[in-house]
Amino acid sequence: MEPQGRGVSESPRIEWAEGGLQRDARWRSEAAVPPPRRVQVVDDTLPADTAYRLASEGTGLLWRSDFQNARQLLQAMARRADRKPRKPPPPPSSPAEAFHLHRQAQGQRSRVLGKVLVELEGDYRIALPRAPDLRAACAQAWGPPDGRPSVASLRELLGLVGAFEWRRKGVAIPALGAAPGNRIHPHYGVFSPVRGEYLDLIAAAPLPSRELAFDIGTGTGVIAALLARRGVQRVVATDQDPRALACARENFARLGLQDRVELLEADLFPPGRAPLVVCNPPWLPARPSSPLEHAIYDEGSRMLRGFLAGLANHLAPQGEGWLILSDLAEHLGLRTREELAGWITAARLRVVARDDMRPSHPKVQDASDPLHAARAREVTSLWRLGHGVTQQ
Ligand SMILES: C[S@@+](CC[C@H](N)C(=O)[O-])C[C@H]1O[C@@H](n2cnc3c(N)ncnc32)[C@H](O)[C@@H]1O
Repeated sequence: MEPQGRGVSESPRIEWAEGGLQRDARWRSEAAVPPPRRVQVVDDTLPADTAYRLASEGTGLLWRSDFQNARQLLQAMARRADRKPRKPPPPPSSPAEAFHLHRQAQGQRSRVLGKVLVELEGDYRIALPRAPDLRAACAQAWGPPDGRPSVASLRELLGLVGAFEWRRKGVAIPALGAAPGNRIHPHYGVFSPVRGEYLDLIAAAPLPSRELAFDIGTGTGVIAALLARRGVQRVVATDQDPRALACARENFARLGLQDRVELLEADLFPPGRAPLVVCNPPWLPARPSSPLEHAIYDEGSRMLRGFLAGLANHLAPQGEGWLILSDLAEHLGLRTREELAGWITAARLRVVARDDMRPSHPKVQDASDPLHAARAREVTSLWRLGHGVTQQ
């Protein structure tokens, strides 16, 4: 059982002994990692090897000296985590095994590095020498402070800072037009279109209609915005995640599209039919290891299959459903092309056309990436689907 709040709140608590006193505080983890059961109060006299060993054993290291030295310790621990083992393990027997081993190793790495902990004051200030002011970044990700101290992993805090910067600067989306303001500002925890090449497929495909479109699982709102910019008069965009809805709303307002795009909290489709229904589901069928991975991994292809199964009921008679999907899952042995084709047929749909492109992001070139062989063959497609022959 995780230690829970004592009537103060439902959030998990972390407990530790310090200066002869028993202390506790709210535990913050957006990745839903439970608080460590053992916590040691540490400072910059702790050697990196010892820190790495303790963290590998599951001990939380509550940092009580210079903030920048804690960052350095984290880097030193990361180098240890990334060291090649002296005796290399046998090569994986299949791409699917390589994928699962890779995720396992990533999970283990983040569990260990997540053990360096920092206490935040009730207003998100960090009372350590040379600590930056992270109040705005914390408030953006976690909501306004509640006046009570809390503890979080340093790694998560640094992630919040990165997300804060992305949100402030935004991501340039060339498909939205050349003007400098054509940027999408992703919120913390919302799928970011940094690898936005698939948007070029959406920008180039012939529109079946300019009257109405649905964008299923809108995330930052980027696809809905792109369709509106291409001249679609009305777009209805859905998502289930409140952070995505807030993010998309802000992006539509920033781009001056708020009157043409309607946002709806919905499981997949809004009511009714549209001549164009677009969806970019997570591309890999695997279990998300934290709530933050829900936009990357789609366990059992739930969203993909739900979109395909419901599409015919939400598509106008001559309409097109546009499915954005990479075939990386096929190269990793997690899904077959036959399965996908079977779901399309079973949903009484037919493939009108398919536009393909090869991703050009740096990972494709990285031969040291354990998934390199699969990534090097990856193709991203826009599947244009229409009503198929009604089965008797
Ligand atoms: C891969 S992201 C794509 C986001 C955006 N369309 C884009 O292309 O950048 C998938 C999105 O679908 C949302 N989502 C997942 N399941 C959903 C469901 N059942 N109904 C609506 N949205 C869902 C997620 O919250 C996430 O924002």
